Formats: sequence, C-alpha cells, structure tokens
Amino acid sequence: MECKERVAMKESELEEIAKRRGFFWQSAQIHGAMSGFYDYAHLGTLLKRKWENLWRKFFLGLDDNFYEIETCSIMPENVFKASGHLISFVDPIVKCKKCRNSERADHIIEKELKENFEGLSPKDLMKLIKKHNIKCPKCGGSLEEVGELNMMFPLDVGTGAEARKAYLLPETAQGAYMNFKLEFEALRRKLPFGLAIVGKAFRNEISPRNVLIRMREFNQAELQIFFDHAKINEHPKFNSIAKYKLRVFPVKNKKNNKIEEIACGDAVRRLKLPKFYVYYMAMVQKFYLDILKLPREKFRFRELSKEEKAFYNKYHFDMELNLESLGGFKEVAGLHYRTSHDLDGHQEVSGTSMVINVEGKSLTPHVLEVSMGVDRNVYALLELAFAKEKDRTVLRFPRLVSPFDAGVFPLVNKDKLPGKAREIQKLLEENGFNVFYDESGSIGRRYRRVDEIGVAAGITIDYDSLKKEDVTLRDRDSMKQIRIKIKDLPEVLKKFLNGEKLGKLGKVIKG
Ligand code: ATP
Ligand code: GLY
Repeated sequence: MECKERVAMKESELEEIAKRRGFFWQSAQIHGAMSGFYDYAHLGTLLKRKWENLWRKFFLGLDDNFYEIETCSIMPENVFKASGHLISFVDPIVKCKKCRNSERADHIIEKELKENFEGLSPKDLMKLIKKHNIKCPKCGGSLEEVGELNMMFPLDVGTGAEARKAYLLPETAQGAYMNFKLEFEALRRKLPFGLAIVGKAFRNEISPRNVLIRMREFNQAELQIFFDHAKINEHPKFNSIAKYKLRVFPVKNKKNNKIEEIACGDAVRRLKLPKFYVYYMAMVQKFYLDILKLPREKFRFRELSKEEKAFYNKYHFDMELNLESLGGFKEVAGLHYRTSHDLDGHQEVSGTSMVINVEGKSLTPHVLEVSMGVDRNVYALLELAFAKEKDRTVLRFPRLVSPFDAGVFPLVNKDKLPGKAREIQKLLEENGFNVFYDESGSIGRRYRRVDEIGVAAGITIDYDSLKKEDVTLRDRDSMKQIRIKIKDLPEVLKKFLNGEKLGKLGKVIKG
C-alpha cells in the first residue's frame, strides 16, 4: 500500500469517516447504543468480507489438509471448565469509590505511565496505583482494591429442570476443539491437519474502547493446526523460508524499543523457537506484507513475556500494526502454541478420549493457533488507507480488499453509452468482480466519489468504446489510465487487482 500521502488520523476522525461513508457505526443507536457493539454498514461489510476471503484463500491454501468449519456460538459450561476459561479468563478490574466507574486496572495505569502492564497480578497493579497515586480517569476519585472479572457472557439455555448453564464463546477456537475428533475421523486421519473458523466471539470487556479494537461482540479468523509434538522441530517447507527475514520485537528489547530483522533460521537459534512455529510466523508475515501489501515498517511480531502470555500458551507472539490513530503498535492477531492444553482439558472433563492413532502411533496432538481479530484488521486497513491529497481524499486500500473492485461509468448519460456500460457491468459481474455502477454527475465528480470509498479501478465507457470495443481503466492511486479491449477487460482487471503495475497492462494514456 502506498503511504506517501497519508496523514495522521485521530481515532474520532476515523470513526466519523467510517460513519459518513458507510463502513461501520455503533449498533442500536436510536435506543442508546451500548459500548463495544458495532454494525458493519454496506462498505464495511464488503471490506470485511474481502479481508476474510483473502484470509481463507491464503491460510487454507497452506496445506491440503486444512479445512474451514462453522460452529455454534453458545456452548455448555463444561467446555469452559475444560479449556480453563472459567477460572483463568479474567481481567483486572478497579472501581472508583466516588463515581462507581469501572476500568481495566492495567489500562488506566498504562495510560498514566505510558507502559504496558498486561498480565500483572491484581496485587502488583494495586501497588502501582498506590505508588503513582493513580485516580479515577472520569472524576478524579480514589480507587478501590483491584479485583478480577471473568469476561465471558453467561446465559441459561432452556427452562426449568432442563435449563443448562452455558456461555457465549470468547474465542472461536473451542468450536474447533469440539469438532477435532469427529473431523479427524471423517478426514484422512493425517497430521498435521487444520480447522479454520471465521466467526463471532464475545467478551464482556470492562472498558470497550478504540472503536473496533476492543468490542464486546467481535469477529475472529482462527486456524487451529493439530500436529504431532514429536515433529515440532521440523516443517517440510522450512528450508524455503530459512533466509526470510522476520520483523521481531523480542521481550529483551522492551527497554530500547528496537525491532530486529531476524532470518527464520536465526530465529530458531536465537529466539529458541521450534521450526514448526517459525514457519507459521513467516506465513503470517507474508500474509500482511505480500498479500495485503501493507508497508513493512508498519508490521512487527511482539514477543510476550511470561506474565503477558495467555494462560494456555507456551510460545506466544502477537502480530502488531503501527496505528497512528491509536498512538503506536497495536495487537491485531496472535500466534499461539497451545500445546495439548485444550484437548487434555476436554478429555479430562468430558471423559472422551482425545487420543488419536496416526500411522500406528497413539497421541494427543498439540495445537498451533493462528488467531486474528477481523475487526482490528478492518480498522487498521481503514487507517492505513486514508490519504488527503491536494484535490481529493482517497482510501488507498490494498487493491484486493477494496470494497468494490471497479466502478463502471458511461462518460455521459446518453447516446447508447449507459447501455454499453451496463453490458460491461454484466461482463465483470459474470466474471466474479464486484462493481459499482454510476452514471450521475460529471466524470470528474464520479472519480472523486469512488476514490473516497476506495474503489480500486475505474472503467469508463466513451464514444470510442462504441466504435472500437475498448474502454479506459483508471488506477485509483496514481489516477493514470490505460485503454484496453473490452474482451480483455476481465483478464486485465484480475492482474491489476493482483498488484500488476498499470504500465505493464497497457500504454498509459493519462497522468
Ligand atoms: P488484548 O490483549 O488486546 O485484550 P487479547 O490478547 O486478549 O487482546 P486474544 O485473546 O489473543 O486477544 O484474541 C485473539 C485476537 O482477537 C486478538 O489478536 C484481537 O485481534 C482479537 N480480539 C481480542 N479481543 C478483542 C476485542 N475485545 N475486540 C476486538 N477484537 C478482539
Ligand atoms: N483463540 C485465541 C484467543 O482468542 O485468545
């Protein structure tokens, strides 16, 4: 993504632009919106789906034995006893003695001291509050002792004697663990095998904030890779990425804030990480840099300290993007080595064996999880795309996630041009592109309109199109155009969306 012209954006500005143009807004506003709930509007829905589909294509494409499933959002209490969420999925909460406002204790300390305190115990957080005399950010009142709040939403399923205690899933992952054994039996009984879920997750966040970044109902795209632990130090394709450089922010660099470029081969040695884990670090980085084409300097892996790691993880790096509207690098995803923590737990609580037999060997697989927050990625795409130029504002989305692939415009709204433009719209739609048709206003105004919502290409039908069966294709970012034959349009547009330079697709006729 080009970012020369980008301007720093405030979070409130981003929310305002998202609302004005139709990306997302708070849910149920007319009844007094609850914080932490957002609806995707027409453009946001397209952007989110494009991101999800790219995610599917890329991650499911990594191995023939990776599949997508769809699972329920409500599960019985024992699922979370087994996973550990019932006891360990807690956040530190602190209440104001005066106004009763509740806050996440580590977050209010982070705001004051400009340092991340995630993972500290309530006792240690309280010590910091006292030491730095931290008060309620709303009214300045004194704070109570730091406590803990379980973040899951409980509910009762059924009534009377039939009623069962259940919870909304706080992560899609448990859906995959519930299906692991059944899928393994139904599939080719081979490891590694992967189950992906793109779906909803629910968390009763103490202080939802930063628009889509911390919500109470949100979307995750997660891939659970089940593998034989004895093979953790290998991956058949490791050699192909051994020299590939990862952008890593190791725990030891917290003081000097330095991001290191470490070749995968060196990451195994220096960071003491297994090859299987490092291989997927490379794949995740490639997704951000090669598929989404985000600027390299915007991305990093952050190693989590012992205290910060999720309770189920042995190795845990977060993927972070540098978002100016939020003051720096923010987590958008995580790569989690969960060992056999979850499957062991489900076996113990349910009494159902999670042991499988692979090529004569009995084992409980270990799990490597690629966990991405869809909404955080959508937020990041919007921020990174926004650019204010001399004569226009433009959303420079990576072409493949642009809400619409192309706008189709008859130069004027008469003389058979609209009819021809409709033909081209049909041709493109039949070839799987999503198209925005517009015939009202001057062509310049129409270009500005699609630039503002980030449509990747503009296809204009003029008088020559009627005679020569060709059209112009305009690149949103450079505003340059080429002229191409209508019969070649689907092929050329496909190459364009996949990142081909305009000049390679035809002779540039306008700058
Ligand atoms: P944080 O530290 O910011 O609370 P987390 O470490 O709890 O996040 P995970 O439990 O690892 O997050 O969840 C996996 C991914 O799901 C995160 O990387 C993030 O992208 C997304 N996610 C988690 N919580 C939320 C939320 N409340 N709103 C939106 N996305 C979220
Ligand atoms: N599935 C990982 C998480 O949501 O924490």
